[in-house]
Parts: sequence; C-alpha cells; structure tokens
Amino acid sequence: MSTTLPVTAAATGNDLHERRVSELLGEMTVAEKIGQMSQVDAVEVTSPSRLRDAIREGRVGALLNEVDVGTVNELQRIAVRESRLGIPLLFGRDVIHGFRTVLPIPLGQAATWNPEVVRQGARMAALEAASAGVNWTFAPMIDVSRDPRWGRIAESFGEDTYLTSILGAAMVEGFQGADLSDASAIAACAKHFAGYGACESGRDYNTTNIPENELRNVYLPPFRAAIEAGVATVMASFSELDGVPASGNRFLMTQILRDEWQFEGFVVSDWGSIEQLVVHGFAADQKEAAYEGVAAGVNMEMASRAYARHLAGLVEEGRIGLDWLDRMVAAVLRLKMRLGLFSNPFTDPSRFPLIANVNNLETARKAAVQSIVLLQNRNGVLPLAKESLASLALIGPMADAPYEQLGTWVFDGDPELSQTPLVAISELLGEKVVVNHVRAMETSRSRSEASFAEAVDAAGRSDATILFLGEESILSGEAHCRANIDLPGNQADLVRALSGTGKPLIAVIFAGRPLTLRNVLDHVDAILFVWHPGTMGGPAIADILFGLASPSGKLPVSFPGEVGQIPIYYSHKNTGKPASAESFVHIDDIAPDTRQSSLGMTCSWLDAGYKPLYPFGYGLSYTRFSYSDIAISAERVEPGESVTVQATVSNDGEVEADEIVQMYIRDLVGNVTRPVRELKAFTRVRLKPGESRHVAFVIAPADLAFHGRDMQLMTEPGEFHVWIGGSSEAQLRTTFAVVDR
Ligand code: NOJ
Repeated sequence: MSTTLPVTAAATGNDLHERRVSELLGEMTVAEKIGQMSQVDAVEVTSPSRLRDAIREGRVGALLNEVDVGTVNELQRIAVRESRLGIPLLFGRDVIHGFRTVLPIPLGQAATWNPEVVRQGARMAALEAASAGVNWTFAPMIDVSRDPRWGRIAESFGEDTYLTSILGAAMVEGFQGADLSDASAIAACAKHFAGYGACESGRDYNTTNIPENELRNVYLPPFRAAIEAGVATVMASFSELDGVPASGNRFLMTQILRDEWQFEGFVVSDWGSIEQLVVHGFAADQKEAAYEGVAAGVNMEMASRAYARHLAGLVEEGRIGLDWLDRMVAAVLRLKMRLGLFSNPFTDPSRFPLIANVNNLETARKAAVQSIVLLQNRNGVLPLAKESLASLALIGPMADAPYEQLGTWVFDGDPELSQTPLVAISELLGEKVVVNHVRAMETSRSRSEASFAEAVDAAGRSDATILFLGEESILSGEAHCRANIDLPGNQADLVRALSGTGKPLIAVIFAGRPLTLRNVLDHVDAILFVWHPGTMGGPAIADILFGLASPSGKLPVSFPGEVGQIPIYYSHKNTGKPASAESFVHIDDIAPDTRQSSLGMTCSWLDAGYKPLYPFGYGLSYTRFSYSDIAISAERVEPGESVTVQATVSNDGEVEADEIVQMYIRDLVGNVTRPVRELKAFTRVRLKPGESRHVAFVIAPADLAFHGRDMQLMTEPGEFHVWIGGSSEAQLRTTFAVVDR
C-alpha cells in the first residue's frame, strides 16, 4: 500500500493539539505508534506485571474493563510518568445504560421517545463512570434492529431510522457533555458500523444481506447523526456486509465514514474482530488480517493482538506506509488531547457527585416511568385505587428480582441498589393492605408448576393480582438470541391458572425484546410492558400501577403476533400486491376446497396476518387522546422549500397525561420505491383533562430526501401524504406536493 491514505486528516481542530500531535509522531518509534493502536483487556491480563511493563514500554494505547479507580490511576501513572513519551491511556468500558445506577435498557429508553431523558441518563452514567476513571464508553448502539429474536435488540433504540438517529445523537451528547475535556465527559462510540442489526434470523454475529440502497436509507443515517452530534469514535461491527467483514471493509470505514462524511475521530474494532477476519475466511492469516484492518481504516484493535504482532513487519515490508500509520495514530492521540488527558490524566473520585445519589435515582425513575408501555387495559382495570384494596397478590419470578430487572450489559450495575416492585408496592400501600407474595417460579424459565397452587390460593385471597412475568436478563443481550419469543418456561400456564380465580389480573412484563403474547392476552385484564427497567423499576412500576403517573411509553419496535411474521416493521415497502383489510383473507376463512388461485391469496399473504400484534408507536394511556384538524401550510411547495403541518390533539379523558404526537410521511412515487410510512417528527405533550393543543411540525427538504438509484441523496418533486397521530397507524391525513414551477 503506497501513499494513498485511507484516513483523512482532521481539518484543523485545535491548532495546539495538531502541533503537539505532529511533534509526538515525530518522536515516536514504530513500536510506540503500534502501541497506540492496541487496546488491551485488563480482565484477561494473566500477568499484571507484564501489563505494567507493556504500558511502560509504550505498547498499550488503551485498556478496557478496568474500573477500579486506584488501579486506573496507577496504570495511568505508569503511562504518563514512566513511559518514554508519557502518552496517557484511554480506559474503555461498556457503559450501556447506566453505570452503578442503572437506567432502563436502551430499547426501554427508546420507548420514552424522549431525547432529553436519554441525554440526562447518559450524563448521569458518564459522571458515575468517570468517577471510576472510565474515559471512553462503547455506546450508543445505534443498529436499526428489526428482529426481536436477536438478543442485542435490547441494546438498540428499535426498528426505526429516525427515532434511532434522534436518540443516538442525544446519548452521544449526554456522554460527551458540552466539552470533552471536562472531567465529567467520557468519549462515546457509535456502534456497530454497520448493519449488525440485520443479522440473518436474529442469530448474533451472523451474515447480513443489505443492498446498498437500503444500507444508505435505513441503516446508516443514525451513524451520520451521531457523527454530526460529535461522536468521538466508531466501532466496527462483527458482521460482514456483502461478503466483506466490517473490520476489513474499506467501503464502510474509508469511503463512507471518512471520505463522504468527513469523520475525524477514530475507529476501534470490536472484540477480536481483526483476528476474526481469518475466521471469516477473508484473510489467510493474522498478518493479512492486520493489513486488511489497517487498510480499511480501523485505527485501534480491541483485545486481539494482530496489530501488535504484525504491523511492524507490514511497515518494514513497505506494505503499510509510515505516513499512513501516522494518520491512524494521530486520530487516537487527538482524542486523548481533546479529553484533556495530557494535562489531567488522573481521576479524583472525591471531585464527583456521589454514586447513586438522589438525583441519579430520580433520573433513573423518570426514565423508567416514561418507558413503560400499557399494551392492554380492559375495562379500565388500571390504575388500581389503593383505597379500595384490602389485599393484593404479587406473583411471579420478576416481582422481587433485583438483578434481573437491570437487564443486559450491566457490568457495573449494582443490584443492591435495585428497588423491586415487591418493595416499592408494599411501601406505597402501607400496612393497611395485605400483600400476598408468591414467587411461583424459581426463574422465568422454570417448568415446575409445584408452586402454582400456592399462587392461585394467594390470588383467591386477594382483591386483585399483579403478575410479574417476562424474561430474566440473561435471555437477551449479546449472543442471547431466541427462536421462540413467547413468555419462557411455564409462564403461560401460570397465567391461565390465575385467570381462573376471576379476580382482576394485571401482567407486568419485563423483557429485553418484544415478545409474542397472543397466548396470554385473553387471560389477563391489563398488560404493562416494562422492558428491563433498571435500578428504579419498582417505584416506576408502582407509580404507573396506582396512577401516580399515566403510562406514556410508545413502542419503538413492532410486536409480532407470531415469530413467522418476522421481519415485521411499519416502514415496509408497499410491494406490487399489498395486503390490506380488503385483500387479506384469513386462513380460517378460506373454504377447504378453495384452490391456490383463490383471490384471497393474491396479496402479500401470510397465514399469520399482515399486521403486527402491536404496531410501532403504539401505547395506551389512562386518558383518551383524539386528533383533529390536520392542516398544511401549503399544498404545493417548490423544491427546497419547507412546509408546516399541524393538528389538534385533545385530552378527552379524565386524567392529566403525556402523549407522544407522531408525524409520518409517505413519498408516493420515487425513483426507488419508498416505504409506506416514515416517521419524520415527534414530540411529547402534556395535556390536562379537556385540554387541546395545536402541534405543528416543519417538514424540511432534508426530511424528504432519500438515496436514489445512483445512491446519491436526492429529493424529487411529487406528492406526499402526511399523518399526525398517536401511532404508526395514525389515520388523520393531509397531502402536499413538491412541484417544479
Ligand atoms: C463485544 C460487543 O459486540 C461490543 O458491543 C462491546 O462494546 C465489546 N464487546 C466490548 O465489551
């Protein structure tokens, strides 16, 4: 490889930093440069003294998974005081949804549709993590995720490109704060670049098949938004794209990220993903893997040692030019400068607010309250009136499960801080109400029904029953994918047994993914879907159950009725034979002697139906909202002009509540087909009973843009439909046209 450089140098940035970076590069040996491109796992280090020697010799640029602040400071001291050039270390950690205080899983945070909640949560997490010496987190995960079988959907913001873009950018801003050099800021990392969420059948790490047009229109925009929000780093995905693993993918890492988007930060591989280029069958050996990684533009190798072992040889052979190496290293040094590590390398925990302080717990509680989605509420069984209860049964494996309610990716989450539903509800009810608690199942996966009779007895003795069901945390997250996404174990049997008591039955479901719930819907009066709500899950659930807050979460991902419907997402294409209420015939309604050519089957037909069980954007409230008077500022606009659409949203019920007002558009004709609907704006409004509000959204030309046949971003003249409402099935519609005059 010659002088063609895959990594564009940063424009100017801070001149002082640039000068210092050049000076350092001038002084560094090749080995020291390679050191800056190597991230070592502190947990797997078998010999602490060897690690210290490696840092002293400048062979380590970053560590991950060291969160003991004393050790962090000690290792940093070796780097800055005992290594030849005194270059400080980055300390990376997966701070995914909180540190010690745990927020709802990202998919739950997405259900808040509240960028401010996400921003505040990340700020809180940054402060707690920074107090332990962490200066770099591997978040946000902004993989558009449309397969609930995939365990990592829990870490995502769900199925939608726009929602993911807005919330991902908010999370970046929360972690990084206004100034990266502030002690409270930690560098963020947009991951996994790119397309990881599209792994076949939801099997983690698996192949993805994403045509470039879909890649650009669906999967890449959240990364672009993160970069615009200033994200410091990007992580390469484990997955391959069109036959080229991301960690060796020049199209992704160089053409798109650096050349098209002018990204000035650096790219880290995923754990061992450089060495895995060999396993993929993309590189013959580790040396070739190192070459492909650097050639693609991956600046730092996480955990594996291909760069450490082979880059020097590749430089010596002239396959990797020194100027090229310098650009890769410069990006790492630049971040260390921006983080202020050269001037303030050490962490003084006493300068930080207390871990899990009252404000942090309040932030976690607010996020959890807003994340809870009310899926069903027959006869207004919820909220429960505390005054009219003499006894209440709290049943199920998730009622008092401090660790399980935290969800996946909680390396540092402290289950001892968890406030469980059992504790919170008992506290809220006080001594006047008898609480009958039965765990009924050892874990969410148990098959034993030995305690069911005890549960039924407790329900029979109580005025109402709340069942705490779902998935324990191990069932979602990395490499924890499920082919069957029903409630695990014998939970459905427990539901059926309890429904026989005839008492009001409320299911509170914890999960890291959408679940298929058809087999329990008819047996329960209400369903609250609470995701894995984190430290403050209990009080948040209690707030909702007893009406101290009205549910306001909306689904960030469609819930399938059956696994066979997957992928099912609202912004699908129309196809040439769309299914609709008119065209779709249910399999049970097809006469047995009907031949295959029956009219009923000439639409995009699947026996499980064409609709999800619950659509994207759906969520009930304790009040009723209605939408009316949609109006558009102009029925015809010229290309480049904006248009404003507005509607009235009214609270027709008796409770003050938040509603998430959503705006969708459809571009009727395109030079590539466009989705039937696309979310383009949303806002959270709070309305008193009887109150109405005009909500207006500006549709800017950029909102109408898409990548066309030649992959260029473009807008086209033509007709657009616009809906405003409370879910992706909103019916209130207007139209406008973009016309060339
Ligand atoms: C592998 C995961 O894919 C990635 O998301 C995570 O940040 C790294 N491991 C580090 O733990």
